[in-house]
Amino acid sequence: MLEFLNTNPAFDLLKKDHDTVKDLFDQFENAEGRPAKKKIVDQALAELKVHAAIEEEIFYPAVRRPVGKDTMNEADEEHHVAKVLIAELEEMDGRETHYDAKFTVLAENVRHHIKEEEGEVFSKAKDAKVDFAALAQTMMERKATLRAKGVPPAAEAAMVAASHGKGDSPAKAADKPAARAPKTRTAK
Ligand SMILES: [Fe+2]
Ligand SMILES: [Fe+2]
Repeated sequence: MLEFLNTNPAFDLLKKDHDTVKDLFDQFENAEGRPAKKKIVDQALAELKVHAAIEEEIFYPAVRRPVGKDTMNEADEEHHVAKVLIAELEEMDGRETHYDAKFTVLAENVRHHIKEEEGEVFSKAKDAKVDFAALAQTMMERKATLRAKGVPPAAEAAMVAASHGKGDSPAKAADKPAARAPKTRTAK
């Protein structure tokens, strides 16, 4: 009944973004055909890039102290892994052997991250002396700017570009001709 007293505008804004990407992950699982899948991936990557930027620029610095460095450092590393996968997917055209797998792993990683954020991070931050209304306003304005002008390139994008498409060694190994695999002996 008094649930509205517990609402937090900053958490609400971030949760809405989370719901948007989770919905895109579900859509991807049910989509058929390359163009449909690629379109969903492109949308999800655009959403994730804007979302990660407002968290890293505005939300994370504001709650880092009350939430504690261990939890926040883990969140940082989860963003880093996601950004590597995002940068790799952005360099792909959707027809590669590991494209779907890469996006699926990104989705699994982000779903896990969202659970921790909405659970651990939000619960540890909720009583902090932070002006969450002002924080939400700043994030909303920054989102509009990032959508209009684009998200500045992540360090991970430069890292992936520098690997010239050779950064995913397991995918490269799997794509090599089967002739390289050792022959199995047949018992005589
Ligand atoms: Fe996050
Ligand atoms: Fe988030």
